[in-house]
Amino acid sequence: MSKREHGLCFLKYCSWTSWLLYCCVFMNVVNGYSVKNCTVRGSLKYAQNINVLCDKRSLHFVPGNIPDKATYLDISYNVIQKIIKEYFSHLSNLRSLNALHNKIREVEEGAFSSLVALQELNLANNKLTDILEGMFQNLGNLSVLHLNDNLITNISFSAFSPLISLSKVNLSRNHLMKLSQVQPLFLLPQLKEVHIGSNGFTSFQTSEVSNVSLTLNVLDLCKNPLKVFRITSDIFPHLDNLDLAFINESMTWDVQDKSYLQSVQHLNLSGIQLPLEKIKDLLQTFNSSLASLRLHFLGDVKVRALLRNVCLISSLRFLGLQRNNITSISKDEMQFCTHLTQLDLSNNRLCSIPAVISSLSSLEFLDLTFNNIKNISSVDFAKLTQLRTLQIYGNEISIIEKCAFKDLKNLTTVMIGSNRLSFNGYFKNDLQKLEILDLSNNKLDSVRSGDLDSLKSLKNLSLPDNQILFIEEGSFSGLKNLIFLNLQSNKLSRVSIKASVFSGILNLRTLLLNNNYISFDSQEALAQPPFKYLRKLKILNIFSQGHKGMVYLPSNLFKGMWSLEELQAENLNINSLHPDTFTYTPYLWVLDLSRNDFTSLTTKIFLPLRVLKTLHLSKTGLQSLDFLINANLSKLHLLHVSKNSLSVINETVIQSFPTLIYLDLRGNYLSCDCTNAWFVNWTISSNDTEVESAYDLTCNYPDKLKGHKLLDLDVGSCNVDVGFFCFLSTTTLVLVTLLGSFLFHFLKWQVIYAYYLLLAFIHDNKQQRKPKGLQYDSFISYNVHDELWVMRELLPQLEDEQGWKLCLHHRDFEPGKPIMENIVDGIYNSRKTICVISRHYLESEWCSREIQIASFRLFDEKKDVLILVFLENIPSHQLSPYYRMKRLIQKKTYLSWPKPGEDTRVFWQKLRVALETKGTPEMEHPLAGI
Ligand SMILES: *[C@@H]1O[C@H](CO)[C@@H](O)[C@H](O)[C@H]1NC(C)=O
Ligand SMILES: *[C@@H]1O[C@H](CO)[C@@H](O)[C@H](O)[C@H]1NC(C)=O
Ligand SMILES: *[C@@H]1O[C@H](CO)[C@@H](O)[C@H](O)[C@H]1NC(C)=O
Ligand SMILES: *[C@@H]1O[C@H](CO)[C@@H](O)[C@H](O)[C@H]1NC(C)=O
Ligand SMILES: *[C@@H]1O[C@H](CO)[C@@H](O)[C@H](O)[C@H]1NC(C)=O
Ligand SMILES: *[C@@H]1O[C@H](CO)[C@@H](O)[C@H](O)[C@H]1NC(C)=O
Repeated sequence: MSKREHGLCFLKYCSWTSWLLYCCVFMNVVNGYSVKNCTVRGSLKYAQNINVLCDKRSLHFVPGNIPDKATYLDISYNVIQKIIKEYFSHLSNLRSLNALHNKIREVEEGAFSSLVALQELNLANNKLTDILEGMFQNLGNLSVLHLNDNLITNISFSAFSPLISLSKVNLSRNHLMKLSQVQPLFLLPQLKEVHIGSNGFTSFQTSEVSNVSLTLNVLDLCKNPLKVFRITSDIFPHLDNLDLAFINESMTWDVQDKSYLQSVQHLNLSGIQLPLEKIKDLLQTFNSSLASLRLHFLGDVKVRALLRNVCLISSLRFLGLQRNNITSISKDEMQFCTHLTQLDLSNNRLCSIPAVISSLSSLEFLDLTFNNIKNISSVDFAKLTQLRTLQIYGNEISIIEKCAFKDLKNLTTVMIGSNRLSFNGYFKNDLQKLEILDLSNNKLDSVRSGDLDSLKSLKNLSLPDNQILFIEEGSFSGLKNLIFLNLQSNKLSRVSIKASVFSGILNLRTLLLNNNYISFDSQEALAQPPFKYLRKLKILNIFSQGHKGMVYLPSNLFKGMWSLEELQAENLNINSLHPDTFTYTPYLWVLDLSRNDFTSLTTKIFLPLRVLKTLHLSKTGLQSLDFLINANLSKLHLLHVSKNSLSVINETVIQSFPTLIYLDLRGNYLSCDCTNAWFVNWTISSNDTEVESAYDLTCNYPDKLKGHKLLDLDVGSCNVDVGFFCFLSTTTLVLVTLLGSFLFHFLKWQVIYAYYLLLAFIHDNKQQRKPKGLQYDSFISYNVHDELWVMRELLPQLEDEQGWKLCLHHRDFEPGKPIMENIVDGIYNSRKTICVISRHYLESEWCSREIQIASFRLFDEKKDVLILVFLENIPSHQLSPYYRMKRLIQKKTYLSWPKPGEDTRVFWQKLRVALETKGTPEMEHPLAGI
C-alpha cells in the first residue's frame, strides 16, 4: 500500500468499500467530461462537435477514455508507435482523426474499421513503411487522407479500394518508386487531388495510370526524378492544376496532343531544372489555357530569358516570380505582358520599381514585398488605373514623391509596413476607394490633421509599431467609415488619447491601444472620458502600458462605450477597481483582467456585467472566488483563474455559474483533502463543464501529498452517504462472498477484517438490547513504541490514582481468542477508547482496526467515545491527511501531554473529566471526515 493511500486512511478503512467505490467512480470517468491527458472542447450535452485534444503530451498510447461522442480527435505530436484495434473501436462518431507527427510504424489490421463516419485522416510525419491490405477497411466516408512524410515503400494493391469517397490524398515525401504502386488510387471514383511529390518516381505515363478518363483536378508531381512525362491519351479532361516544380534536367516531355492538357490553368514550374529551350517547348503545350504560372527559384538569368515567351501566353493572368534574385527587369522583357492582372515579384533584389510596371495597365494585384526598394517616384505607378492591391512591405522606402498614387483610382489596399516612412501625408485626396492602409512598423512620430482624413472609404487603418507620440485633434475626423484602428506599440500617453481625437470616427468597432504609455494617477472620474464618442466600439485593447502600467482605471474611463463587448485590460499594474468601472459597458462579454495584482475584488464590480461569457482573472493574486458568488454571472461560459492562490474550490462558487463550460485552474495551490472532495467529484462527473487539464492538477497541501494529482484523491470516504451505503453493501457482499473460497484465497485479509466489522455491528446490536454492565472504563489504543509511557505514566495515574479500570491488550486480552475478537470485546466492554497519539501511532495505528471499530461504535451510539491524547506536538498541516482527526482537534476533544519539565496535573485532571463525560450527542458523524 502506498504512503499516499495510507495517509488518506481509505483503503485500510475497508478495502472492499474502496473497491466498490472505485467502480462507481470509474464508471463516471468513462462518461464524464474531463479526459485523462486530454482537453475536451465542445458540448457533450448538445453533442454537436466534441473535440478531444491530446496533442503534444508525450503519449506512448492513445488514452483509453475518449468519449464515444467525440467528433474530432487530435493525438498529434506524441510518440505513439503502434495503432492497435482497441484504440478507436468505440469512436463511431469521429469525423476527423489527427495523428500527425508521431512515431507510428505499424497499424493493426482493421484498426480504423469502426470509424465509419471518418472524413479526414492525418497520418503524416510518421514512420510507416507499408500500407497493408486491411488498413482502410470500412472508411467509406473518408474524403481526405494525409500520408505524406512517412517512409512508405510498399502499398498493397487493394489497400485503397474501400476509400470510395476519397477526394484528396497526400503521399508526398515517401519512398515510392513505381507508379504502379499508386495506380489504384487514380481509379477511385471521387478522387480530385493527388500529391505524390518528393518520391522516387522516374516516369509518369498515362498508359500506366488508366485507360479511361478520370476526374482528377490536381496532380502534384514536384521534386520527383522524372525521366519521362508522357501523355498519350485524354485521361485528364478535368486537370486544372499541375505541379512540376523542381523537376530534373533530363526529363523527356512528351504530350502527343496539345488538347490532352488543355484544361490545365495553374502550372507550377518553380525551380525546374530543364534546359531553357525545353522549358519553352513545354510551355507551348499549355498555350491556350494557362491562367497562372509560377516560376519561382529559377534565378535571375533563366527567368528573365523566359519572360518573353511567357508573355506570349495570351491567356495568362497571374505570374509568380518570387525568389529569383531579380535586380531589374528591362522594358522589352515584359512589354507583351500587358494582359497580366496579377504579378508577384516579392523576395527579389529590386532597388527600384521597374519602369515596365507602369505599362502593365491591366494589373490589379502587385506584390513587391521584401525587395530593396528605396523610394516610390511619381511615375512608378502612373497609369495603373486598375490596381486594387499594392503590397510593398519589407522594403527600405523612405521617400514617396508627391502624386505617386494619383492614378490609382481603384486602389483599395495598400500594405506598406516595415519601411522607413516618417511621414504619412502621401495618401491624400487621390485614394478615394482606399479601404485598407497598413503603415505598421515605420518611423512615424505623429498623426496630423489633414494627413489621412480625406480617405473617405478607409475602413481599416494600421499604425502599430511606430513612434507616434502625438495625435492632433481631428486627425481621424473625415474617416466616417473607419471600423478598425490599430495604434498599438507606439508612444501614446494619456494626453494623446483625448476625446476630441476620436470624435470623428463614430463607426469604429475595434480600437487597439495596447503597449503604449497610458497611465492615470487615480480612480477619480475624468472630466472628459476619452472614449465617450465611441458608441459603436466593440473591442478595446489597453493591456500592457509603459514601464509602470496604467496603475489606475478612472471610474468613468469606459463611459460612452455602450456597445463594448470585449475588453483586454491585462498587465496594467492595477490593484483595485472602482465599483462603477463597468457600469458603462453592460454588453461586455469578454473581460480580461489577468496579470494585475488585485488586493481585493468585490462583487459590486461585476454586477453590471449581465451577459459576461468569458472572464480572465489569471495571475491576479486571488485567494478565493467568493466575490463571484453573488455577482450574478449567469451567462458565464469560460472562467480563467489559473496561477492564483486558490486552495479550495467550493460548491457554492461553482454553482453560481449555471452555464459554465470551461474552467482553467492550473497553477493554483490546491488542497488535497476533503474540503475539495466535492470539486473532485464534480470535475470527474460533470458533463457540462470541462476543467482544463483536470488530470494534471496537483496538490500543494498537505505536505505529504504535495505534487500528487488532485484527481487521485480518494474522496469516497469524505461522503457520509456513500460511505455508509458502501459499508452496508460491503457487509452484504462479504456474507455472500465468504462462501466463495476462491475469493477468500485471494482476499483473505479483507474478508477477515470485514467479518469482524460485521461482528462489531452484531455485538453492538446485542449490547443495545442488554442493560449495560461494562467491564472497563477505557480501552487504550497505542503503538508499541509508546508502551513505556503507557506503563510508567498512564497506567499508574489512571488505575492507581484515579481508580479507572483500563483494558490493555497485552494484559487483558484472553489468550487463545482471536485477536480481532479480543479487540471487539475490549472496545465494546469499555466506555471509552483512549488513543495515545504519536507519529508512530499515526503511521501505523490510526487507520487500524481498533480505531475503525471504536469509530463504528461512536457512530452507532452517537457518543463521544474517543479520547485523543497527543504525546508529541504534531503540526496541524501534518495532520491534514488524517482528516477526521483534524476535525476532532478542531472540536477540541483532545489532550496534549505536557513538555518535559512542565506540570502534568492539569493534564490528568482533564483526562479525568474526559473519562467522566457521558459523550456529546451533537458530535458529528465520525465517518464523515475520514
Ligand atoms: C457516410 O456518408 C453517407 C453519405 O454522405 C451518409 O449517408 C452516412 O450517414 C455516412 N455514414 C456515417 C456513419 O456517418
Ligand atoms: C503534401 O505534403 C507535402 C510534404 O509534406 C507538403 O509540403 C504539402 O503542403 C502537402 N500538400 C497538401 C495539399 O496537403
Ligand atoms: C490499358 O490497356 C492496355 C491495353 O489493353 C493494357 O496493356 C494496360 O495495362 C491498361 N492500362 C491500365 C492502367 O489499365
Ligand atoms: C506550386 O504552386 C502551387 C499553386 O498553384 C502551390 O500550391 C504549390 O505549393 C507549389 N509547389 C511548390 C513545390 O512550391
Ligand atoms: C463555500 O463558501 C461559502 C462562502 O464563503 C460558505 O458560506 C460555504 O459554507 C462554503 N461551502 C462549503 C461546502 O464549504
Ligand atoms: C453525465 O452523463 C452520463 C451519461 O450520459 C450520465 O450517466 C451522468 O449521470 C451524467 N452526469 C451528470 C453529473 O449529470
